[in-house]
Amino acid sequence: MIVRVFAGAFLFGLASGPVWADDFKDLPEGQGRDVAVRVCAQCHSPEIAAHQNLDAQGWKDLVNQMANNGANATDAEFDTIAKYLAASFPAK
Ligand code: HEC
Repeated sequence: MIVRVFAGAFLFGLASGPVWADDFKDLPEGQGRDVAVRVCAQCHSPEIAAHQNLDAQGWKDLVNQMANNGANATDAEFDTIAKYLAASFPAK
């Protein structure tokens, strides 16, 4: 009996194993998505970016503003993120 309980727990553990895909469904696939998720999730959900539609300069400015807030990334990474966001959420 005890053995069966353990076996059941073990199988349940396998079945509910890790899911590697992230949950940010509002962020479309695209070059730079991984960088944006990593950097922009340092403080808040990276998905709040999906609530905005900006042109390339607008995204540059917003990413700059986040850098001033304390976002931690290299200039190249900020550039990649701004391009990803401009491609994903262009001005309407
Ligand atoms: C160091 C913390 C930090 C990081 C990292 C960060 N943010 Fe923010 N973000 C904030 C804070 C604080 C606010 C709210 C105050 C403000 O608007 O500056 C905010 C607000 C925002 C808003 C809403 C702005 C508005 O006007 O409504 C957006 C969009 C946003 N962040 C996008 C991003 C993106 C894109 C990244 C990745 C480049 C990012 N954030 C990374 C701290 C951060």
